[in-house]
Amino acid sequence: MKATAIENDPVCFYGVGVGPGDPELITLKAARIIESSEVICYLANKEGHSQSKGIAHVHIHSTHIELPIYMPMSDDPTVGSAVYDEAAMAIGNYLMQGKSVVFLCEGDPLFFGSFSYLLERLAEHYTCEVIPGIASPNGASARLQKPLTMLKESFAVISGRHTDSHIVHTLNNFESVVIMKAGRNRVRILNLLKETNREADAHYLEYIGRDNEKIIEDISLLEKEAGPYFSLFVVLSNKRQRHD
Ligand SMILES: C[S@@+](CC[C@H](N)C(=O)[O-])C[C@H]1O[C@@H](n2cnc3c(N)ncnc32)[C@H](O)[C@@H]1O
Repeated sequence: MKATAIENDPVCFYGVGVGPGDPELITLKAARIIESSEVICYLANKEGHSQSKGIAHVHIHSTHIELPIYMPMSDDPTVGSAVYDEAAMAIGNYLMQGKSVVFLCEGDPLFFGSFSYLLERLAEHYTCEVIPGIASPNGASARLQKPLTMLKESFAVISGRHTDSHIVHTLNNFESVVIMKAGRNRVRILNLLKETNREADAHYLEYIGRDNEKIIEDISLLEKEAGPYFSLFVVLSNKRQRHD
């Protein structure tokens, strides 16, 4: 039986999406739940900086207990797994004390979201709820003022960490493609866009909605070097018909 699944018991582990960057793109429900929960948890880098906390900061008060989860940059999956195990224990301890815990997730919590790893560890034992957020591809298309998909177009999302052949296959088979996690893969992605003849369809965005936002609509102007983690490419159909 779930430890907190008692009727009228409000104690809950919430995965809250805070949107891509603009603090005004947090939903009313997300803001209410952040403000009314006792513990605010988020991923942070070794300097203590957290993108999701930065987006939601106006809703975080001195009465909140903060639980940062320090996630080292590592390609070794066992490192992340150990961090999530430890974080799930710490979150569980607060829930057992009757304190609701919010995990702030940049974008949407279940779209490439780190919340998924905590949910799979905690859902069996505690009451959980997911508050959706605006995902970065939606933030990107809004900033570009270009539709992600129209009519019969197919749309794919792929990680920039995928193999060359998988990225090429996706670019060749879908009219619209968002390539996430561009950061360290930027140069490789630029080469694959060229190889598939989709350079002219592609746009690059980083830190959407933040003060340091960068939007490069013509990617031939983009430096051929690694970029920040919070970056993506939006590749759109060049065969769209106008309806006049
Ligand atoms: C772990 S995923 C998180 C996705 C997030 N849950 C969402 O709904 O968009 C991180 C990747 O999302 C993309 N991303 C998220 N927020 C972004 C932003 N504000 N600007 C550009 N890219 C962003 C980047 O490609 C980044 O590498």
